[in-house]
Amino acid sequence: MKSFYITTPLYYVNAPPHIGHAYTTLAADVLARWHRLRGRKAHLLTGTDEHGANIEKIAREAGKDPRQWADEMSERFRALWGALGVRYDDFIRTTEPRHERPVQQVFEVLLRKGDIYKGTYEGWYCLPCENFWEQEDLVRGSCPVHGKTAEKIQEESYFFRLSRYQDPLLEHYRDHPDFLKPSFRASEVTNFVQSGLKDLSVSRAKVRWGIGVPGDGRHTIYVWFDALLNYITAAGYSPVPHERSPRFEDHWPAEVHLVGKEIFRFHAVIWPAMLMALDLPLPGTVFAHGWWTVEGEKMSKSKGNFIDPQEMIREFGVDAFRYYLFREVPFGQDGDFSRRALKSRYNAELANDLGNLLSRVAQMVENFCAGRLPYRPKMQEDFLTGELAKKTQVLEASIEGLAFSQALDTIWEVIRRLNQRVDRWAPWEKVKGDPDRVAFFLFDMVSSLRLLSDWISPFMPQAAQDMQAQLGEGGRPIRKGPPLFPRK
Ligand code: MSP
Repeated sequence: MKSFYITTPLYYVNAPPHIGHAYTTLAADVLARWHRLRGRKAHLLTGTDEHGANIEKIAREAGKDPRQWADEMSERFRALWGALGVRYDDFIRTTEPRHERPVQQVFEVLLRKGDIYKGTYEGWYCLPCENFWEQEDLVRGSCPVHGKTAEKIQEESYFFRLSRYQDPLLEHYRDHPDFLKPSFRASEVTNFVQSGLKDLSVSRAKVRWGIGVPGDGRHTIYVWFDALLNYITAAGYSPVPHERSPRFEDHWPAEVHLVGKEIFRFHAVIWPAMLMALDLPLPGTVFAHGWWTVEGEKMSKSKGNFIDPQEMIREFGVDAFRYYLFREVPFGQDGDFSRRALKSRYNAELANDLGNLLSRVAQMVENFCAGRLPYRPKMQEDFLTGELAKKTQVLEASIEGLAFSQALDTIWEVIRRLNQRVDRWAPWEKVKGDPDRVAFFLFDMVSSLRLLSDWISPFMPQAAQDMQAQLGEGGRPIRKGPPLFPRK
């Protein structure tokens, strides 16, 4: 079976990672873990986007060579993914030969095909975006995303014949309703494409820190053209057939590209057009998530209000941080990050609802059944466990539709229900008179909790493991352990 291939954007190495970056990567990790849990092969790709004028400038300002700067920053991203429990299968850097070489080959092939040609570029450029803007896009002369003054550029440039793909793109959107998600963003893109596509400048004459245009030493390849190709170069693609890895067939097309809303257009318009030009199949879905503000404000350098994920890990632990990001805001919408909201969810939902449920059940099995439960295969059907197993399909649909908060809502309904069941049943009152019934009841609770631990494992891998240990998986006795989430 083909691998389920999921990608994150390649992060710019211009600054250390913050919660925005963590969000996209964690979503990919949740999805990949879910697929692995369901017995599929998943392949998660992430990495860093290291070329371009902006990064060169920032490196120089820090008194460093861009390569050395990129090495250090790239390491910080890797370290953060390690700390956040992200299980990625590949990490690509756009400065690696395995990327640079096929990028140049692609450029050559498209030049030969006439999909790339030489012309003159005139327009406005925003450095932090590494994006060209039309005069009418600018807000009082500044970029609409960063608010930075855009720079007027006129230079000789290579162009990608994006205009050629206007109709094929529209046709693809129409025939593949799952291609662009969420749907409200799909309509924005469709309108944009319908209003007419211009050819795209894909080289820069003044930028040194980039991949050279083959055969033309004066130009480097535009960073976005370079970076987007990572999704296939990392999978072993080369337009030269004998240089292509057999792995490519197993990976490509990607099932999901996860991106933030501000880079949706690159992935929904330019990237599929590039793939069409290369005669390659298109990815299954490009999904755009929303943006986090922090305590009601946009994160920015001037405000200095970037949230460092490492700090959140220290304060609340990895799992609670992961949980909060996907519980608080429906994936696809914008949301506001607040320490208070995180703390209150931590105490109410993690420490109380989930943590207490586990402690209570484990403690009762320890006290009433000496930490061991008899297996009751015949009873299984009548049990809550059987009913819960059916919920797995509901969860499956939520998670595969990237409705992570909905999945967590479903899981928490079950947790509350299990807590109520313990309260109503009050096994401590029945254990003297009817120890067997209590054992059945606890068997049911433990089986339910084991299922639950699987469900939460993509979101909270460590807590799931701790639960499983307390629930005696692997033939160990069932034993109440330290609280999963000590109260804050
Ligand atoms: N290098 C490009 C992507 C190239 S992909 C071929 C880039 N890099 S980035 O470092 O700016 O990071 C992009 C990712 O971080 C996006 O998915 C973006 O949405 C996410 N976030 C950055 N700030 C964010 C928030 N404040 N909130 C949520 N996510 C945001 O773009």
